[in-house]
Amino acid sequence: MGMEWYDRIALRNGGYQSNAVFTVEGLSAETVFEERLIRMLPAFGSVLDAGCGHGEFTLNMSRYAKKLTGFDNSAELLRIARSLHQEAGAPGQVEFVYATTKTELPFSDNAFDLIYDRRGPDVHH
Ligand SMILES: C[S@@+](CC[C@H](N)C(=O)[O-])C[C@H]1O[C@@H](n2cnc3c(N)ncnc32)[C@H](O)[C@@H]1O
Repeated sequence: MGMEWYDRIALRNGGYQSNAVFTVEGLSAETVFEERLIRMLPAFGSVLDAGCGHGEFTLNMSRYAKKLTGFDNSAELLRIARSLHQEAGAPGQVEFVYATTKTELPFSDNAFDLIYDRRGPDVHH
């Protein structure tokens, strides 16, 4: 079987990112998402980032969360996430876990108080 698409993007672009230049008119949905999430995070004990990619956003959000776990099914993106985490000197309490929504997730019931999904896997699997 060939390498997964997200693994190839990670190897080619060094993460889930590209050099594309976007022009956004007005407030982007991602900005709204981020601002709302930042306001919510301090109120929750344990938070899950579904489809965390290369972890840049997860690590940024970890400044506002007590405990944050990111999971993803791209081994390459997770490898980058863990190395960014080390470089960042671990702000907050963060963990990156390999997991796919296509099988049972390796977390116990009620392990999280909040789950967010920023451009991550949809629920139709
Ligand atoms: C569009 S990227 C977004 C990454 C990150 N959340 C961000 O905002 O930069 C989608 C991510 O979801 C992951 N993903 C897609 N399907 C998945 C699945 N079924 N289980 C776990 N992760 C998945 C991909 O590997 C990828 O990292």
